[in-house]
Amino acid sequence: MAETKRKPRGGTLSVVPNAPKPRLRGAVRVLVLSGPNLDRLGKREPEIYGKATLGEIHEQLEALASSRKAVVDCRQSNHEGALIDWIGTAAEDGFSGVLLNPGALTHYSYALYDALKGSPLPAVEVHLSNPDAREAFRKNSVVAPACVGRVAGFGGASYTLALTALLDRLQGS
Ligand code: DQA
Repeated sequence: MAETKRKPRGGTLSVVPNAPKPRLRGAVRVLVLSGPNLDRLGKREPEIYGKATLGEIHEQLEALASSRKAVVDCRQSNHEGALIDWIGTAAEDGFSGVLLNPGALTHYSYALYDALKGSPLPAVEVHLSNPDAREAFRKNSVVAPACVGRVAGFGGASYTLALTALLDRLQGS
């Protein structure tokens, strides 16, 4: 006997906890990366980095992205190689741009510089603090020459300001 397809009943909304977020078709997708020790935000030197956790900053980025009909995928790793792998495949993975707070890797990771240089995507360097106003070793960013711009010194707002600027560029507004 032929299998009969059951008609979906109207009026029912099923909510699946932790269901994957809906992907806006054709939306600009931005990869947001945070490097070593940024998982400790909220607890780590709050007088320098603020009280907001990285999770809270990610929520703000998601809200901003959705108000701009864009999508962010926010990731953090304490491992240089993970950041390099994510940057390396970002274009093939459908992203249009990268927002990156490399943490201390900013100041010495030529491998991260090479990954950004090798990617066709525009990247923006982000910092919560203003590294130029801190210890001497923080004044140099080896990733800066591979980025289209930099936002630093505004706490968690550095991320949202950077996303606004990157989306303006990607969406042509
Ligand atoms: C930082 C600045 C870096 O110098 C430092 O190593 C960090 C955080 C910032 O967001 O202000 O880990 O990238």
